[in-house]
Amino acid sequence: MKILRTVSCLIGLLFILSNCNDGQSKPKMGILHPNNDSELTLLMRDMYDYYEGIKENVEQGNLPENIREFAEIHNAVSTEPSKAESPLYKAMSQVYLESAKRFSSSTGNTKELFNNMVDNCMNCHQQMCPGPMVKIKKLYVKK
Ligand code: HEC
Repeated sequence: MKILRTVSCLIGLLFILSNCNDGQSKPKMGILHPNNDSELTLLMRDMYDYYEGIKENVEQGNLPENIREFAEIHNAVSTEPSKAESPLYKAMSQVYLESAKRFSSSTGNTKELFNNMVDNCMNCHQQMCPGPMVKIKKLYVKK
């Protein structure tokens, strides 16, 4: 019995880790979307692409108009639903969102506020999903 429990724990752990890859390869499990990716995974990719797209502008000291803040981060369903329901996830997504709002309403210190926001992507990832950190790090703008 004890062995059985250990084995199923290990399998569970593999499920959790399986989606925390480098953000490049396609994870195989998840709440079924046409291509098997979870809502949260798709949102994360969207966030990354969006911020990467405005990075150059920010680096030149400009604040693009109508910046997206991705409040959906609170409700998106993860590959491992319990992960996005955990108090840790809730707290970290709140901190992220607040920093995204500070950035989008910044007057002057745009680069610094952008980097603070990226810090919060990194902080949550450090705790919950370290794989994509290598990629996320590339978002930092030079001061
Ligand atoms: C509150 C926690 C949290 C925050 C904040 C967060 N992420 Fe994530 N991110 C996750 C989790 C958890 C996953 C794994 C997805 C899943 O479980 O469905 C993920 C996955 C990813 C992936 C991999 C997607 C793939 O293709 O598999 C990328 C890239 C990513 N996040 C980028 C970002 C960026 C950029 C930010 C900040 C703008 C950010 N994340 C903020 C928790 C977070």
